[in-house]
Amino acid sequence: MYNDKLKIYQRNDESIWTDEYISKSLLENQLDESTNAASRMPSNRRDIVNWINSKIKPNSRIIDLGCGPGLYAYELGKLEHYVMGIDFNKESIEFGKRNKSIKGIVEYKYSDYIKDNIDGIYNVAMMIFCDFSALVPNEQKILLQKISTLLADDGIFIFDVFGKAEFEKQKNGRTWYVSNGNDFWSSEPYFLMKETKLFEAEFSVGTRYYLINQLNGTIKEFIMYDQYHDENSIQELVAENGFDIVEINKDIIRYKEETLLTIVKKKKHAGLSCKKRK
Ligand SMILES: C[S@@+](CC[C@H](N)C(=O)[O-])C[C@H]1O[C@@H](n2cnc3c(N)ncnc32)[C@H](O)[C@@H]1O
Repeated sequence: MYNDKLKIYQRNDESIWTDEYISKSLLENQLDESTNAASRMPSNRRDIVNWINSKIKPNSRIIDLGCGPGLYAYELGKLEHYVMGIDFNKESIEFGKRNKSIKGIVEYKYSDYIKDNIDGIYNVAMMIFCDFSALVPNEQKILLQKISTLLADDGIFIFDVFGKAEFEKQKNGRTWYVSNGNDFWSSEPYFLMKETKLFEAEFSVGTRYYLINQLNGTIKEFIMYDQYHDENSIQELVAENGFDIVEINKDIIRYKEETLLTIVKKKKHAGLSCKKRK
């Protein structure tokens, strides 16, 4: 049964990133330098890499969560940091291994950063292209807990989120179209229905797609979210999960009018209270 109403932070098991056909289209988008569809364009990537490099210690150990085809990992490796890239798009990870590895310096692992165990100790965890704000709150919690154990005591987590000004531009709507296939969504003819739903109180937008195969009638349902933040909401979210803000930069990422590139560090003695309750 499909629900008529998309409920806030409703999830299912299907993901465009792991779908056998769509994951290939996404990799193509990530490698297409003329679009910001799945990775940012080269000039913007360069600025982000240089900014990250200026904020971290020489020879840092970095874990790039949702590394895609390694566009950032490789550049940071060339700057003499060790980078472990993690992604659950098999196509992207295989591309990274083939084309964006540096032996013993830039490595890749196929893994789901929410569901799988990840080990190692790193100075830096990073997650670029607003993927942190594509996670629902319980996933953000799980991820921040993992990052907390992956980071050395003085380690930092660098991530970006869409700013609240962008939320104002979003609109509720339902649209559909029909295709003969051999494009982004499918090799076979299909119908695609798209619903965009604004959750005002949460500054969150849910997007739900129904992909209906014209030949055999199978339906795939993909649900995605984007949360929109300002300094206060980011501060609140990370503080609840044992992190403090180090810096928020609004100038480096130019693709979205307002994107907050954020650095956080673990609170000292997170989760431990030194004071006895009376
Ligand atoms: C928007 S792309 C950004 C890729 C890369 N950070 C970049 O900017 O070029 C998001 C990436 O996160 C990956 N991803 C999403 N959820 C994931 C999960 N739970 N575990 C591992 N990778 C995930 C996707 O497969 C995809 O490659």
